[in-house]
Amino acid sequence: MLRNIEEILKENKKIEIKTSEDLEKFRLKYLSKNGILNSLFVEFKSIGGEEKKKYGKILNEFKSLIEKKYNENRKYIEETKKEEKNIIDYSLPGTPIKLGSLHPLSIVQNRIIDIFNKMGFVISEGNDIEDDWHNFSALNFPENHPARDMQDTFFISKEMALRTHTSSVQVRVMEKQKPPIRTISPGRVYRNEVVSARSNCFFHQIEGLYINKNVSFADLKFVLLKFVEEFFGKDIKIRFRPSYFPFTEPSAEMDIFLGTETEENKRLTKGTGWLEILGCGMVDENVLKNCGIDYEKFSGFAFGMGIERITMLKYGIKDIRMFFENDTRLLNQFAGL
Ligand code: DAH
Repeated sequence: MLRNIEEILKENKKIEIKTSEDLEKFRLKYLSKNGILNSLFVEFKSIGGEEKKKYGKILNEFKSLIEKKYNENRKYIEETKKEEKNIIDYSLPGTPIKLGSLHPLSIVQNRIIDIFNKMGFVISEGNDIEDDWHNFSALNFPENHPARDMQDTFFISKEMALRTHTSSVQVRVMEKQKPPIRTISPGRVYRNEVVSARSNCFFHQIEGLYINKNVSFADLKFVLLKFVEEFFGKDIKIRFRPSYFPFTEPSAEMDIFLGTETEENKRLTKGTGWLEILGCGMVDENVLKNCGIDYEKFSGFAFGMGIERITMLKYGIKDIRMFFENDTRLLNQFAGL
């Protein structure tokens, strides 16, 4: 029996365990019910007397050697398996990152700001919640003007309201700065109107203001013409129509020519070919006075336009409510712009 064990040991030393299959083979060969160890123990039972002691010791040592080899290798294989699971394959293609897109209103607003920036206009911002003075009184709205009416304005208290236009920012700027002033003010405005495809209870405007010595209506026309040429293209035709705003005198509305060739343009322009895109005028003396500007020395012009209107025109969006629904089927179309 002794010789037998020595041989088995020699052979066992040579066995290399590298994979879980090797390990299983090893287990079956030595440690299973029909394995070598068990058969040695069966043999051992038939030995008697002194011999039994001697072999018992050798056999037990042999058993613990085999078990040690098995356990060590099992541990090693299990650990490397765990590590393999955590290994990062650097050659795998990355998970694509979904790029967001700018909202169409932001795209158009940024474009308008860019154009006026190039002409020296800097951005100024006011407050969405505004007092009566900045939204109405300083802008020369008479006490009983319909725009102050509850039907148009979201009042918060007797004195405070959600601003109905960005013209309020003009007042804030003129109160703080001395001319020359050249500023544009983008922002959200609020009106208590019935929501429909054409109008929403809030929307966005950009206001422009230029105050300096000897500013004339010709300057206003030039700046607005350059703006539409940059925005819509050189071939654009514009016209100014006399209008009325409490804060400008004279006041005008500017139309762009779309023509009546397509059904869409016929509808948009009510058959005239012309579409109004902004209000403008020379800043009323009363407004300059209210803001502490010497109206004998300085004059200026102002204009204001709705961003939704221009965006709908530019991208053929037919319902203003679509801007505020966050529907990715619309927004995805503007990715990369
Ligand atoms: N505040 C006007 C509106 O909301 C737009 C406007 C018209 C602004 C004429 C101006 C202006 O600065 O001069 O309808």
